[in-house]
Amino acid sequence: MLRYMTAGESHGKSLVSILDGMPSGLPIKESLINKELARRMSGYGRGGRMKIEKDKVEILSGIRKSKTTGAPIAILIKNRDSSIDKLASITKARPGHADLAGALKFAEKDIRNILERASARETASRVAVGALAKILLGEFKVDILSHVISIGGIFADTRGIPFQSLKKKADNSPLRCSDKTAEKSMKAEIDAARSSGDSLGGICEVIVKGVVPGLGNLSQWDRRLDGNLARSLMSIPAVKGVSVGGGFSLSDMRGSEVHDAIFYSKSKGFYRNTNNAGGLEGGMTNGENVVLHLVMKPIATLKNPLESVDIVTKRKVKAQVERADVCAVCACGIVAEAGCAFEIANAMIEKFGGDSVGEMKRNFKGYVDAVRRF
Ligand SMILES: Cc1cc2nc3c(=O)[nH]c(=O)nc-3n(C[C@H](O)[C@H](O)[C@H](O)COP(=O)(O)O)c2cc1C
Repeated sequence: MLRYMTAGESHGKSLVSILDGMPSGLPIKESLINKELARRMSGYGRGGRMKIEKDKVEILSGIRKSKTTGAPIAILIKNRDSSIDKLASITKARPGHADLAGALKFAEKDIRNILERASARETASRVAVGALAKILLGEFKVDILSHVISIGGIFADTRGIPFQSLKKKADNSPLRCSDKTAEKSMKAEIDAARSSGDSLGGICEVIVKGVVPGLGNLSQWDRRLDGNLARSLMSIPAVKGVSVGGGFSLSDMRGSEVHDAIFYSKSKGFYRNTNNAGGLEGGMTNGENVVLHLVMKPIATLKNPLESVDIVTKRKVKAQVERADVCAVCACGIVAEAGCAFEIANAMIEKFGGDSVGEMKRNFKGYVDAVRRF
């Protein structure tokens, strides 16, 4: 079983994560992890913090001579802005943040002690862990992309664009949007939100290609892969909705239009011509691409702040203003890629055994051959 934990505050010394359960013998290049961290930091609409940080990992354990040993992998990311002890107390709770609920829960009169850990800075750790999961998945030719589908109500049209081209276009876009016309309008919308001290949210799509059928498990609620993927994505700060395949749009269609008819050919094996199921049936992969959508609410820290209450004086105030992104939907997609990579890697380890990559590959090959001969 693959599992991880993270620690660290937004303006603390460092972010730390421990990834446990990675098989031995996996070649690791730190540069690949750093590349993922750089992808999370970029994007049109991001705030000042991302100009300060230059995230780089330091691997503290579990990797020797550039290969995993099977021991827990401890990952350190140092914060450039580590001013936590010098930062002033905060008492003006920001609506849309953990500020008020966290202060009440932990009996804490300084909201700084809440927001430092609740901050999405933590997602850098998730991306580092996800990068290792992606390296493992790469050994099995599993590939993942994310792209932005909408921002501030402007929708991209990416119908019919093949996986590799969609991925390339997103990676070359400052908004991770593969539709140039929509991207232009999205940028204008972000500029308008910024000038009025406001913020925006949107939707991104994650697609996982190359997964074999049968990952995840139908037999128990907490072993269903759709549930585990949804939990991983839903736990990303500001994500308010996750859907699989056709998602909410399936509610007003008929069964005959929704379900993906099954075909068979000698060369392809079992296949579908549609993918409304998003590659998941009965909590398991069915061999088609896994397709997930996630909704990110607009950033909660506003330059033009909402009404709030000072938690100490109980007086009416304007909410605290912190350095913030205007829109972070593109970065959210990168964090979502990491979450999906982790869950799919976990399901692969569960199915193919996770002590060494060699053992996993042998078991994988045996299974793929059996599926082919089925
Ligand atoms: C990549 C990323 C960057 C974010 N950047 C900010 C930000 O700069 N300012 C902010 O107020 N919220 C930001 N958020 C969202 C908050 O972290 C989130 O809304 C807050 O922690 C409350 O959690 P909740 O929205 O899930 O309730 C970001 C989220 C993500 C995923």
